[in-house]
Amino acid sequence: METTKTTLTEIATLTFKGKEYELPVTTGTEGETGIDISKLRNITGGITLDSGYANTGSCQSAITFIDGEKGILRYRGYPIEELAAKSNFVEVCYLLIFGYLPNQSVLDDFKDKLAHHSLIHEDMKKFFEGYSANAHPMGILSSMVNSLSAYYPEHDYKADVELNIIRLLAKLKTIAAFSYKKSIGQPYIYPKDDLSFTADLLNMMFAVPSEPYKVSKSVIDALDLLLILHADHEQNCSTSTVRMVGSSEANLFASISAGICALWGPLHGGANQKVITMLEKILGDGGDYKKYIGLAKDKESKFKMMGFGHRVYKNFDPRATILKEAADRVLKELGVNDPLLDIAKNLEEIALKDEFFVERKLYPNVDFYSGIIYRAMGIPTNMFTVMFALGRLPGWIAQWKEMREAPGARIYRPRQIYIGEQRRPYVPIDER
Ligand code: ACO
Repeated sequence: METTKTTLTEIATLTFKGKEYELPVTTGTEGETGIDISKLRNITGGITLDSGYANTGSCQSAITFIDGEKGILRYRGYPIEELAAKSNFVEVCYLLIFGYLPNQSVLDDFKDKLAHHSLIHEDMKKFFEGYSANAHPMGILSSMVNSLSAYYPEHDYKADVELNIIRLLAKLKTIAAFSYKKSIGQPYIYPKDDLSFTADLLNMMFAVPSEPYKVSKSVIDALDLLLILHADHEQNCSTSTVRMVGSSEANLFASISAGICALWGPLHGGANQKVITMLEKILGDGGDYKKYIGLAKDKESKFKMMGFGHRVYKNFDPRATILKEAADRVLKELGVNDPLLDIAKNLEEIALKDEFFVERKLYPNVDFYSGIIYRAMGIPTNMFTVMFALGRLPGWIAQWKEMREAPGARIYRPRQIYIGEQRRPYVPIDER
């Protein structure tokens, strides 16, 4: 529920065109402050200009807390390190969406519902046939999620939303696995209710009807950890997109489909795929990682160190810290020796001491080590961002639900400073 725990503690004073204006200051439960400018245009005639929204709070939210300076991430008050060590993905889904850790019977009921709704309508299987074999699975995922709205329309928010949330959580993994099977030309493997959420996803991706397949416990645990670490991250690009689309009261499936598209970009979730491409390039180039540190520092080169930097984290990304340790453990457990892990560690070690990176507070982000673990699990590179989307789904749903249920919710509609031509006369075509 929005706006329940903030307090007005002080007033900010703005001097503009010779006049003074008082603006209320809102303080969140962790002490972070925001100058409330919601009446700014009405009282001053001016608006704020904040490219990339780096200083703009678009909402009040009770879901996720991040302190980028201290490297803190908490879902509903619980530190990410504790959830990563003690919880599982399905429990974290419940926590994010409904706001509290479920007891055993509530969790069992939630799991049963997720298992029960995991099949997709048989007609939807035909959609996969229309895509070419090299279609990117993120494009397929987004289209298929939007298509769910045709099967489960939202006639009335209150009556339909809870079941549609369950349906989406349950079916996204089936859609993701089917799109993978389609891309490699193997038969679809249907969901199995007796497997855990994560084991079922792996089974649908890697089992074939002709031989037995046993999902390894190390792989299940590693995937569960990855999904938990990606589950929410407050108002990032894709989540803001979900809220933006949802603010017009577009249905859940349409809003999440838009979020999937936003996640796809290489500056956001698509970075996990690009990190591996970059590490493979460095390996193919003789493993000379120092050369690539030099390229990242040279603005003329247009080369970016993928998996480095973050808008919010200016110390370390706590998810990357957990993943670095997990990468070592998982690769050892699976008996995988990946030269890309060594290159990644070398890049990190040098970058952390290099003035360019230190000055700009550039640290490895969640995408830097996640791809190496996905690779060790046998997940192909173009599925990495799909795995991210599966993890982020409960966060998107929680944020969408919070926005729809917030008292006084308004459509998202930023303004602009117009810099185009002033009014000019229309020139008929034969005079141009
Ligand atoms: N490699 C080299 N230099 C970088 C990098 C990088 N990865 N990231 C930022 N910088 C430099 C910028 O060029 C800029 O330098 P300048 O001050 O000399 O002009 C400075 O650091 C600040 O960077 P901004 O671009 O202003 O940072 P912003 O907050 O706008 O962007 C972003 C953050 C998009 C994550 C950026 O760091 C980036 O592109 N990183 C690589 C892609 C990536 O890993 N994305 C995943 C992010 S995590 C996630 O979305 C799940």
